[in-house]
Amino acid sequence: MGYQPAKKEATLLAPYTMGPFELSHRVVHAPLTRFRSFGNLPQPHAAVYYSQRASKGGLVIAEATGVSDTAQGYPHTPGIWTPEQVEAWKPIVDAVHAKGAIFFCQLWHVGRVSTNDLQPNGQAPISSTDVRCGPNPEVPSEYSKPRRLRAEEIPGIVDDFRRAARNAIAAGFDGVEIHGAHGYILEQFMKDGVNDRDDEYGGSLENRCRFAVEVVGAVVAELGAHRVGMRLSPFLDYNDAVDSDPTGLGVYMAQQLSKHPGFLYCHVVEPRMAFSEGRWNIPHRLLPFRKAFNGTFIVAGGYDREEGNKVVADGYADLVAYGRHFLANPDLPRRFELGAPLNKYDRSTFYTQDPVVGYTDYPFLDDHDDE
Ligand SMILES: Cc1cc2nc3c(=O)[nH]c(=O)nc-3n(C[C@H](O)[C@H](O)[C@H](O)COP(=O)(O)O)c2cc1C
Repeated sequence: MGYQPAKKEATLLAPYTMGPFELSHRVVHAPLTRFRSFGNLPQPHAAVYYSQRASKGGLVIAEATGVSDTAQGYPHTPGIWTPEQVEAWKPIVDAVHAKGAIFFCQLWHVGRVSTNDLQPNGQAPISSTDVRCGPNPEVPSEYSKPRRLRAEEIPGIVDDFRRAARNAIAAGFDGVEIHGAHGYILEQFMKDGVNDRDDEYGGSLENRCRFAVEVVGAVVAELGAHRVGMRLSPFLDYNDAVDSDPTGLGVYMAQQLSKHPGFLYCHVVEPRMAFSEGRWNIPHRLLPFRKAFNGTFIVAGGYDREEGNKVVADGYADLVAYGRHFLANPDLPRRFELGAPLNKYDRSTFYTQDPVVGYTDYPFLDDHDDE
Protein backbone atom coordinates (compact mmCIF):
# COMPACT_ATOMS: atom_id res chain seq x y z
CA MET A 1 0.00 0.00 0.00
CA GLY A 2 3.04 2.28 -0.02
CA TYR A 3 2.89 2.89 3.73
CA GLN A 4 5.97 4.32 5.40
CA PRO A 5 6.27 2.65 8.80
CA ALA A 6 7.72 4.99 11.43
CA LYS A 7 11.13 4.23 12.90
CA LYS A 8 10.61 3.34 16.53
CA GLU A 9 13.30 5.46 18.19
CA ALA A 10 12.16 8.87 19.47
CA THR A 11 8.86 8.85 17.67
CA LEU A 12 5.20 8.49 18.57
CA LEU A 13 5.68 4.71 18.54
CA ALA A 14 8.54 4.66 21.04
CA PRO A 15 7.77 3.37 24.54
CA TYR A 16 7.78 5.81 27.44
CA THR A 17 7.76 5.51 31.22
CA MET A 18 5.27 7.94 32.78
CA GLY A 19 5.74 7.70 36.55
CA PRO A 20 4.49 4.23 37.52
CA PHE A 21 2.96 3.60 34.09
CA GLU A 22 4.77 1.87 31.24
CA LEU A 23 3.43 3.25 27.98
CA SER A 24 4.12 1.33 24.79
CA HIS A 25 3.61 4.42 22.58
CA ARG A 26 3.04 8.19 22.81
CA VAL A 27 -0.35 8.49 21.06
CA VAL A 28 -2.77 9.66 23.77
CA HIS A 29 -6.57 9.71 23.47
CA ALA A 30 -7.53 13.33 24.32
CA PRO A 31 -10.61 13.97 26.48
CA LEU A 32 -13.66 14.18 24.19
CA THR A 33 -17.15 15.12 25.41
CA ARG A 34 -19.75 13.21 23.40
CA PHE A 35 -23.16 13.93 25.03
CA ARG A 36 -24.11 10.27 25.22
CA SER A 37 -24.28 9.80 29.01
CA PHE A 38 -28.02 10.01 29.54
CA GLY A 39 -29.04 11.45 32.88
CA ASN A 40 -25.34 12.11 33.67
CA LEU A 41 -24.81 8.34 33.85
CA PRO A 42 -22.09 6.77 31.71
CA GLN A 43 -23.73 4.18 29.43
CA PRO A 44 -22.75 0.70 28.20
CA HIS A 45 -22.00 2.09 24.72
CA ALA A 46 -19.13 4.06 26.29
CA ALA A 47 -17.47 0.72 27.12
CA VAL A 48 -17.57 -0.10 23.41
CA TYR A 49 -16.28 3.33 22.40
CA TYR A 50 -13.38 3.44 24.85
CA SER A 51 -12.32 -0.19 24.46
CA GLN A 52 -12.20 0.34 20.69
CA ARG A 53 -9.69 3.12 21.31
CA ALA A 54 -7.69 1.29 23.98
CA SER A 55 -4.39 -0.37 23.09
CA LYS A 56 -1.86 -2.23 25.19
CA GLY A 57 0.21 0.38 27.00
CA GLY A 58 -1.79 3.28 25.53
CA LEU A 59 -3.03 6.24 27.61
CA VAL A 60 -6.74 7.02 27.26
CA ILE A 61 -8.15 10.15 28.90
CA ALA A 62 -11.92 9.98 29.36
CA GLU A 63 -14.27 12.82 28.53
CA ALA A 64 -14.87 15.70 30.92
CA THR A 65 -16.79 14.28 33.90
CA GLY A 66 -18.74 16.37 36.40
CA VAL A 67 -17.53 16.53 40.01
CA SER A 68 -20.85 17.61 41.54
CA ASP A 69 -24.47 18.49 40.78
CA THR A 70 -23.43 22.12 40.12
CA ALA A 71 -20.73 21.06 37.63
CA GLN A 72 -22.97 20.43 34.62
CA GLY A 73 -23.16 22.76 31.65
CA TYR A 74 -24.54 20.53 28.93
CA PRO A 75 -27.08 17.71 28.85
CA HIS A 76 -25.96 14.05 28.78
CA THR A 77 -22.44 14.55 30.09
CA PRO A 78 -21.22 12.00 32.64
CA GLY A 79 -20.67 12.60 36.33
CA ILE A 80 -18.69 10.92 39.07
CA TRP A 81 -20.24 12.31 42.25
CA THR A 82 -22.86 9.62 43.02
CA PRO A 83 -22.48 5.89 43.84
CA GLU A 84 -24.61 5.07 40.76
CA GLN A 85 -22.19 6.96 38.53
CA VAL A 86 -19.22 5.17 40.08
CA GLU A 87 -20.92 1.82 39.43
CA ALA A 88 -21.74 2.83 35.85
CA TRP A 89 -18.09 3.69 35.15
CA LYS A 90 -16.79 0.33 36.43
CA PRO A 91 -17.59 -1.84 33.38
CA ILE A 92 -16.26 0.91 31.09
CA VAL A 93 -12.98 1.04 33.00
CA ASP A 94 -12.80 -2.77 33.01
CA ALA A 95 -13.27 -2.88 29.23
CA VAL A 96 -10.37 -0.43 28.75
CA HIS A 97 -8.14 -2.33 31.17
CA ALA A 98 -8.95 -5.60 29.43
CA LYS A 99 -7.14 -4.15 26.40
CA GLY A 100 -4.10 -3.29 28.54
CA ALA A 101 -4.56 0.49 28.38
CA ILE A 102 -4.17 3.09 31.13
CA PHE A 103 -7.36 5.08 31.78
CA PHE A 104 -7.62 8.53 33.35
CA CYS A 105 -10.80 10.42 34.23
CA GLN A 106 -10.99 14.14 33.44
CA LEU A 107 -12.52 15.98 36.40
CA TRP A 108 -14.70 18.90 35.35
CA HIS A 109 -16.69 21.78 36.74
CA VAL A 110 -18.12 24.17 34.15
CA GLY A 111 -18.70 27.12 36.50
CA ARG A 112 -20.64 29.81 34.62
CA VAL A 113 -20.76 27.86 31.31
CA SER A 114 -24.21 26.61 32.28
CA THR A 115 -27.86 27.48 32.60
CA ASN A 116 -30.22 27.57 35.56
CA ASP A 117 -32.16 24.58 34.23
CA LEU A 118 -29.04 22.38 34.45
CA GLN A 119 -28.45 23.43 38.05
CA PRO A 120 -29.96 21.94 41.22
CA ASN A 121 -33.25 23.67 42.11
CA GLY A 122 -32.85 25.97 39.12
CA GLN A 123 -30.23 28.01 40.93
CA ALA A 124 -27.70 30.22 39.16
CA PRO A 125 -24.45 28.64 37.96
CA ILE A 126 -21.44 29.49 40.14
CA SER A 127 -18.26 31.29 39.12
CA SER A 128 -15.51 33.71 40.08
CA THR A 129 -17.72 36.49 38.75
CA ASP A 130 -21.36 37.45 38.24
CA VAL A 131 -20.75 38.36 34.58
CA ARG A 132 -22.51 36.05 32.13
CA CYS A 133 -20.49 34.00 29.64
CA GLY A 134 -21.07 35.17 26.06
CA PRO A 135 -23.04 33.01 23.64
CA ASN A 136 -21.50 29.94 22.00
CA PRO A 137 -22.65 29.34 18.40
CA GLU A 138 -22.57 25.55 19.00
CA VAL A 139 -24.96 25.75 21.95
CA PRO A 140 -28.58 26.75 21.27
CA SER A 141 -29.49 28.42 24.56
CA GLU A 142 -27.83 31.40 26.21
CA TYR A 143 -25.83 30.86 29.36
CA SER A 144 -27.40 32.09 32.57
CA LYS A 145 -26.09 34.88 34.73
CA PRO A 146 -23.77 33.28 37.29
CA ARG A 147 -23.54 33.83 41.01
CA ARG A 148 -20.16 34.92 42.32
CA LEU A 149 -18.86 32.38 44.85
CA ARG A 150 -18.04 33.77 48.28
CA ALA A 151 -14.47 32.99 49.38
CA GLU A 152 -15.74 30.81 52.21
CA GLU A 153 -17.63 28.61 49.71
CA ILE A 154 -14.53 27.73 47.69
CA PRO A 155 -13.21 24.99 50.03
CA GLY A 156 -16.49 23.16 49.39
CA ILE A 157 -15.84 23.10 45.63
CA VAL A 158 -12.23 22.02 46.24
CA ASP A 159 -13.68 19.18 48.27
CA ASP A 160 -15.99 18.22 45.38
CA PHE A 161 -12.89 17.71 43.20
CA ARG A 162 -11.22 15.70 45.96
CA ARG A 163 -14.24 13.44 46.42
CA ALA A 164 -14.65 12.98 42.67
CA ALA A 165 -10.97 11.97 42.46
CA ARG A 166 -11.51 9.38 45.16
CA ASN A 167 -14.61 8.13 43.30
CA ALA A 168 -12.62 7.83 40.08
CA ILE A 169 -10.16 5.50 41.78
CA ALA A 170 -13.08 3.56 43.31
CA ALA A 171 -14.44 3.14 39.77
CA GLY A 172 -11.09 1.65 38.77
CA PHE A 173 -9.50 4.56 36.91
CA ASP A 174 -5.69 4.68 37.09
CA GLY A 175 -5.71 8.39 37.83
CA VAL A 176 -7.35 11.73 37.11
CA GLU A 177 -6.76 14.77 34.94
CA ILE A 178 -7.90 18.03 36.51
CA HIS A 179 -9.65 20.07 33.79
CA GLY A 180 -8.02 23.47 34.07
CA ALA A 181 -8.67 24.44 30.43
CA HIS A 182 -11.25 25.86 28.00
CA GLY A 183 -12.86 28.56 30.13
CA TYR A 184 -14.43 26.33 32.76
CA ILE A 185 -14.45 27.09 36.48
CA LEU A 186 -10.72 26.89 37.16
CA GLU A 187 -9.92 29.16 34.21
CA GLN A 188 -12.71 31.53 35.29
CA PHE A 189 -10.55 32.14 38.34
CA MET A 190 -7.11 31.89 36.68
CA LYS A 191 -7.66 34.30 33.78
CA ASP A 192 -7.72 38.04 34.35
CA GLY A 193 -10.22 38.56 31.52
CA VAL A 194 -12.89 36.86 33.65
CA ASN A 195 -11.82 37.06 37.30
CA ASP A 196 -12.98 40.44 38.61
CA ARG A 197 -12.62 39.67 42.33
CA ASP A 198 -10.87 41.77 44.94
CA ASP A 199 -10.46 39.09 47.63
CA GLU A 200 -7.69 36.50 48.10
CA TYR A 201 -8.97 34.66 45.00
CA GLY A 202 -8.63 37.67 42.65
CA GLY A 203 -6.16 40.31 41.53
CA SER A 204 -2.58 39.02 41.46
CA LEU A 205 -1.57 35.94 39.46
CA GLU A 206 -0.98 34.07 42.69
CA ASN A 207 -4.47 34.98 43.96
CA ARG A 208 -6.19 34.08 40.70
CA CYS A 209 -4.47 30.68 40.63
CA ARG A 210 -5.16 30.00 44.32
CA PHE A 211 -8.35 28.00 43.70
CA ALA A 212 -6.72 25.80 41.01
CA VAL A 213 -3.65 25.30 43.19
CA GLU A 214 -5.90 24.29 46.11
CA VAL A 215 -7.72 21.78 43.91
CA VAL A 216 -4.38 20.31 42.81
CA GLY A 217 -3.22 20.08 46.43
CA ALA A 218 -6.43 18.38 47.58
CA VAL A 219 -6.45 15.84 44.74
CA VAL A 220 -2.75 15.08 45.20
CA ALA A 221 -3.30 14.60 48.95
CA GLU A 222 -6.14 12.19 48.17
CA LEU A 223 -4.55 10.11 45.41
CA GLY A 224 -0.80 10.73 45.50
CA ALA A 225 0.90 12.93 42.90
CA HIS A 226 1.71 9.95 40.68
CA ARG A 227 -1.97 9.58 39.80
CA VAL A 228 -2.69 13.21 38.95
CA GLY A 229 -2.32 15.23 35.76
CA MET A 230 -3.67 18.65 34.81
CA ARG A 231 -4.87 20.15 31.54
CA LEU A 232 -4.28 23.83 30.80
CA SER A 233 -5.04 26.11 27.83
CA PRO A 234 -3.56 29.51 28.66
CA PHE A 235 -3.62 30.71 25.03
CA LEU A 236 -7.20 29.81 24.13
CA ASP A 237 -10.19 32.09 24.46
CA TYR A 238 -12.94 29.46 24.72
CA ASN A 239 -15.97 30.49 26.75
CA ASP A 240 -14.73 34.09 26.85
CA ALA A 241 -11.73 33.18 29.01
CA VAL A 242 -8.71 35.25 28.00
CA ASP A 243 -5.64 36.28 29.93
CA SER A 244 -3.38 39.28 29.32
CA ASP A 245 -0.24 37.17 29.96
CA PRO A 246 -0.89 33.56 28.94
CA THR A 247 2.78 32.60 29.04
CA GLY A 248 3.17 33.96 32.57
CA LEU A 249 0.00 32.14 33.66
CA GLY A 250 1.06 28.80 32.17
CA VAL A 251 4.59 29.00 33.58
CA TYR A 252 3.23 29.83 37.04
CA MET A 253 0.85 26.87 36.97
CA ALA A 254 3.55 24.50 35.66
CA GLN A 255 5.75 25.61 38.57
CA GLN A 256 2.93 24.97 41.05
CA LEU A 257 2.42 21.44 39.69
CA SER A 258 6.17 20.80 39.94
CA LYS A 259 6.04 21.59 43.66
CA HIS A 260 4.40 18.17 44.14
CA PRO A 261 7.20 15.61 43.75
CA GLY A 262 6.16 13.06 41.15
CA PHE A 263 3.22 15.08 39.80
CA LEU A 264 2.40 12.92 36.83
CA TYR A 265 1.74 15.12 33.84
CA CYS A 266 1.05 18.57 32.51
CA HIS A 267 -1.17 18.55 29.42
CA VAL A 268 -1.33 21.80 27.48
CA VAL A 269 -3.38 22.80 24.46
CA GLU A 270 -1.64 24.79 21.71
CA PRO A 271 -2.95 28.18 20.58
CA ARG A 272 -5.30 28.03 17.58
CA MET A 273 -3.68 27.03 14.29
CA ALA A 274 -2.25 29.97 12.32
CA PHE A 275 -2.38 30.28 8.52
CA SER A 276 0.96 31.10 6.94
CA GLU A 277 2.94 30.13 3.84
CA GLY A 278 -0.14 28.58 2.27
CA ARG A 279 -0.98 26.17 5.09
CA TRP A 280 -2.31 25.90 8.63
CA ASN A 281 0.46 25.57 11.20
CA ILE A 282 0.61 24.66 14.87
CA PRO A 283 2.10 27.67 16.69
CA HIS A 284 4.31 25.54 19.02
CA ARG A 285 4.29 28.07 21.87
CA LEU A 286 4.36 25.60 24.76
CA LEU A 287 8.12 25.27 25.36
CA PRO A 288 8.19 27.65 28.39
CA PHE A 289 5.68 25.39 30.14
CA ARG A 290 7.64 22.25 29.34
CA LYS A 291 10.76 23.89 30.76
CA ALA A 292 8.95 24.94 33.94
CA PHE A 293 7.51 21.46 34.59
CA ASN A 294 9.41 18.44 35.94
CA GLY A 295 7.13 15.58 34.86
CA THR A 296 5.65 14.22 31.66
CA PHE A 297 4.62 16.91 29.18
CA ILE A 298 1.65 16.27 26.87
CA VAL A 299 0.74 18.56 23.97
CA ALA A 300 -2.52 18.72 22.01
CA GLY A 301 -4.22 20.76 19.33
CA GLY A 302 -4.06 20.18 15.59
CA TYR A 303 -1.47 17.41 15.58
CA ASP A 304 -1.15 14.80 12.85
CA ARG A 305 1.31 11.91 12.59
CA GLU A 306 4.10 13.97 11.06
CA GLU A 307 3.87 16.84 13.57
CA GLY A 308 3.55 14.38 16.44
CA ASN A 309 6.67 12.50 15.43
CA LYS A 310 8.50 15.78 15.00
CA VAL A 311 7.71 17.20 18.46
CA VAL A 312 8.61 13.93 20.18
CA ALA A 313 11.89 13.70 18.24
CA ASP A 314 12.66 17.37 19.06
CA GLY A 315 12.01 16.83 22.77
CA TYR A 316 9.26 19.49 22.71
CA ALA A 317 6.81 16.92 24.14
CA ASP A 318 6.87 13.47 25.70
CA LEU A 319 3.38 12.51 24.55
CA VAL A 320 0.90 13.88 22.01
CA ALA A 321 -2.85 13.84 22.59
CA TYR A 322 -5.16 13.45 19.60
CA GLY A 323 -8.79 14.54 19.70
CA ARG A 324 -10.64 14.47 16.40
CA HIS A 325 -8.36 11.92 14.72
CA PHE A 326 -8.79 9.48 17.62
CA LEU A 327 -12.54 10.08 17.62
CA ALA A 328 -12.67 8.96 13.97
CA ASN A 329 -9.92 6.31 14.09
CA PRO A 330 -10.33 3.77 16.88
CA ASP A 331 -7.01 2.17 15.87
CA LEU A 332 -5.10 5.46 15.54
CA PRO A 333 -1.78 4.23 17.04
CA ARG A 334 -1.79 1.27 14.65
CA ARG A 335 -2.53 3.53 11.68
CA PHE A 336 0.34 5.80 12.71
CA GLU A 337 2.62 2.80 13.04
CA LEU A 338 1.77 1.67 9.52
CA GLY A 339 1.52 5.13 8.00
CA ALA A 340 -2.00 4.13 6.95
CA PRO A 341 -4.62 6.64 5.79
CA LEU A 342 -7.05 8.05 8.38
CA ASN A 343 -10.85 8.04 8.46
CA LYS A 344 -12.25 11.57 8.25
CA TYR A 345 -14.17 12.80 11.26
CA ASP A 346 -17.81 13.79 10.91
CA ARG A 347 -18.34 16.99 12.87
CA SER A 348 -22.13 16.70 12.57
CA THR A 349 -22.17 13.70 14.95
CA PHE A 350 -19.68 14.98 17.54
CA TYR A 351 -22.42 15.98 19.97
CA THR A 352 -25.43 13.88 18.93
CA GLN A 353 -26.95 11.22 21.20
CA ASP A 354 -26.88 8.12 18.99
CA PRO A 355 -25.09 5.28 20.83
CA VAL A 356 -23.60 3.97 17.56
CA VAL A 357 -23.69 6.45 14.69
CA GLY A 358 -20.66 8.72 14.71
CA TYR A 359 -19.57 7.07 17.96
CA THR A 360 -18.69 3.37 17.70
CA ASP A 361 -19.17 2.89 13.94
CA TYR A 362 -15.93 4.42 12.65
CA PRO A 363 -14.16 1.57 10.82
CA PHE A 364 -10.93 -0.10 11.86
CA LEU A 365 -8.21 -0.57 9.30
CA ASP A 366 -9.06 -3.69 7.33
CA ASP A 367 -6.77 -6.61 8.08
CA HIS A 368 -5.61 -6.83 4.49
CA ASP A 369 -4.27 -3.25 4.74
CA ASP A 370 -1.63 -4.51 7.20
CA GLU A 371 0.09 -6.62 4.58
C1 LIG B 1 -16.06 16.54 20.14
C2 LIG B 1 -15.02 17.18 21.03
C3 LIG B 1 -15.16 17.11 22.40
C4 LIG B 1 -14.18 17.64 23.25
N1 LIG B 1 -14.31 17.49 24.61
C5 LIG B 1 -13.31 17.87 25.43
C6 LIG B 1 -13.36 17.59 26.82
O1 LIG B 1 -14.28 16.93 27.33
N2 LIG B 1 -12.33 18.02 27.60
C7 LIG B 1 -11.26 18.72 27.06
O2 LIG B 1 -10.35 19.10 27.81
N3 LIG B 1 -11.18 18.98 25.75
C8 LIG B 1 -12.16 18.55 24.92
N4 LIG B 1 -12.04 18.76 23.57
C9 LIG B 1 -10.78 19.27 23.03
C10 LIG B 1 -9.87 18.10 22.61
O3 LIG B 1 -9.45 17.33 23.73
C11 LIG B 1 -8.61 18.60 21.86
O4 LIG B 1 -7.84 19.41 22.69
C12 LIG B 1 -8.99 19.37 20.60
O5 LIG B 1 -9.90 18.63 19.82
C13 LIG B 1 -7.76 19.69 19.75
O6 LIG B 1 -7.08 18.50 19.39
P1 LIG B 1 -7.25 17.84 17.92
O7 LIG B 1 -6.79 18.87 16.92
O8 LIG B 1 -6.33 16.65 17.97
O9 LIG B 1 -8.69 17.47 17.74
C14 LIG B 1 -13.03 18.28 22.71
C15 LIG B 1 -12.92 18.38 21.32
C16 LIG B 1 -13.88 17.83 20.47
C17 LIG B 1 -13.68 17.90 18.98
